[in-house]
Amino acid sequence: MRREFRRALTAAAAGRLVGREEIITLLAALPGEEEEALRRQADAVRAASVGDAVYLRGVIEFSNYCRCRCHYCGLRADNRKLARYRLSPEEILACARQGAELGYGTIVLQSGEDPYYTAEMIASLVKEIKSMGLAVTLCVGERPREDYALWRRAGADRYLLKHETANPELYQQLHPGMGLKRRLECLKWLKELGYQVGSGNIVGLPGQSLADLADDLLLLRELKVEMAGIGPFIPHPETPLGGYPAGDLGLTLRVLAVARLLLPFAHLPATTAVGTLAPDGRQRALQGGANVIMPNLTPPGYRERYQIYPNKICINERPEDCRSCLEAMVTGIGRYLGRGPGHFQGVKQDAPRHGERFGSILNLKGRKEN
Ligand code: 5AD
Ligand code: FES
Repeated sequence: MRREFRRALTAAAAGRLVGREEIITLLAALPGEEEEALRRQADAVRAASVGDAVYLRGVIEFSNYCRCRCHYCGLRADNRKLARYRLSPEEILACARQGAELGYGTIVLQSGEDPYYTAEMIASLVKEIKSMGLAVTLCVGERPREDYALWRRAGADRYLLKHETANPELYQQLHPGMGLKRRLECLKWLKELGYQVGSGNIVGLPGQSLADLADDLLLLRELKVEMAGIGPFIPHPETPLGGYPAGDLGLTLRVLAVARLLLPFAHLPATTAVGTLAPDGRQRALQGGANVIMPNLTPPGYRERYQIYPNKICINERPEDCRSCLEAMVTGIGRYLGRGPGHFQGVKQDAPRHGERFGSILNLKGRKEN
């Protein structure tokens, strides 16, 4: 093991505030001994801080309409080949009830950015699902602050809004009409409103460097996210990035492992995208820092139409199939299914000191916005 790698790993595992260069060193772990040492440290930190429980969050993909045109995503508005659907409130609540029956403590309401669902419609869904004794996570994109506030008052516990990439130029290129600044403003509102906030990024985007990924991790630390979803880029043929290679599974797992070292108490899912790249991808993620899985609760007839990337797993499975599959997966690696809502239990981490190097990420002062 190279000396600089060992030094960075020891510092990060001890909870010291490692900087950009050390993170890059960790992300560049060599296959074999270094990569395995990183994975083991992440697994040890996971065990010590959040324990052996794996929480299941049932995801209802209730609409595949999207007004955005993200260059990587199969749901983008320009994809005219995709048959669009919207679930009615009754259908959504039926899925949530099924989630409760399967023992899931949290329901995630996820959709493309679809203004058809008014703030009031979503608020009433939140109230109904909360009355079933479940925690609610929303994942419906960028909305005005007052919508987020209304949903929080309705009882929503968490909000997922991935920053996708912390490189502002790359962000701008990949998200026509959007900007990283706006994204970060939404994340700030969500924090202020008292949500447990999840963000996260895509690994292996065309044009992305290890330094960009280090910045993703520094941003997650600066935001003090309670959750972070980290998944590989998977090219979708009906998108502008359809001809590029997929992100590397090993690199994705290294980003995840470093995320665990930087955010010991965060909820880190073994993402569906990791499971799509390799049959044992989610197991490997769970053994290298992850502690959450987000099984699909979308009714089988709709699942194939929520392919943000191709070959997404569980398209032909029913919710109960995923439930038993995951129980077997989790117990098979010596872990157990978490009960109850599985809220963030961490201690608040100290404010990071890397700001001098990176500029203040939150207000992007001094950073170029195209
Ligand atoms: N590959 C990997 N992840 C993707 N996402 C969207 N499209 C892709 C893709 N082609 C991710 C984004 C988004 C989430 C819903 O799915 O991170 O936030
Ligand atoms: Fe859906 Fe395994 S999680 S079949």
